[in-house]
Amino acid sequence: MSLRVRDEGRRKGMATSSGDDAVMIRLSDVHLKLASAAGEVNILRGLNLNVAPGERVGVAGPSGSGKSTMMMVVAGLERPSSGQVQVAGEDLTALGEDALARFRRARIGIVFQAFHLIPTMTALENVAVPLEFAGREDAFDRAAGSLAAVGLAHRLTHYPGQLSGGEQQRVALARAFAVQPSLLLADEPTGNLDGETGRQVIDLMFDLADRHSSTLMLITHDPALAGRCRRLVRLVDGRILGD
Ligand SMILES: Nc1ncnc2c1ncn2[C@@H]1O[C@H](COP(=O)(O)OP(=O)(O)OP(=O)(O)O)[C@@H](O)[C@H]1O
Ligand SMILES: [Mg+2]
Repeated sequence: MSLRVRDEGRRKGMATSSGDDAVMIRLSDVHLKLASAAGEVNILRGLNLNVAPGERVGVAGPSGSGKSTMMMVVAGLERPSSGQVQVAGEDLTALGEDALARFRRARIGIVFQAFHLIPTMTALENVAVPLEFAGREDAFDRAAGSLAAVGLAHRLTHYPGQLSGGEQQRVALARAFAVQPSLLLADEPTGNLDGETGRQVIDLMFDLADRHSSTLMLITHDPALAGRCRRLVRLVDGRILGD
């Protein structure tokens, strides 16, 4: 894969890399400050975290404590004000926008709380989009397979508005897993679902993660979901207080 070869070459030229295949996520003293109308806000205040490949980490903490922001930083969708973010041996803080986007597409699956499906596209098209961006010629076949894996083979041509909440969440999971990401990030994946549907989505997510040997980082208030993670990180006011 050309991306990997290029990244490999660049990594060799970097002084900072510690060549860590044993670490999937490494946050080193990550701070994030954002400007708001009321002045500067310290959202992340020195996060340090190591997550090994294949780990399942739950992230909990009060509303506003920085959980979603931390996830955005790990996903490379938000740049920290200071500190270092490494994912799968790659220093995200050193990558330019294009390289970062390529890395994200190839390695990271993201499930947002509000699904973020494109309303004018069918389930099949929604799942195929990131595959097409990633240059996969078999994008539609692969997307259909991914939807079948979440029990939605009979809903390929439905638009998000024609799907139930649980079905939309499963499309979002199919989309996130379609690229076989080494890291899956999910922000309250069961937050909008009833107990039984939530349980089905959890089973599905862990099953997919097992199948693809993905590392999982899940933000959740749901005790049923937190209970499935062997490790629980607790954020309070932009700091990790429990691990
Ligand atoms: N773009 C922004 N500009 C200024 N402040 C922001 C911005 N985005 C988030 N914040 C603030 O950062 C803090 C952390 O937000 P974040 O969304 O990470 O919280 P959270 O832990 O995910 O909360 P919840 O459980 O409610 O989803 C909040 O106080 C929020 O108001
Ligand atoms: Mg949040």
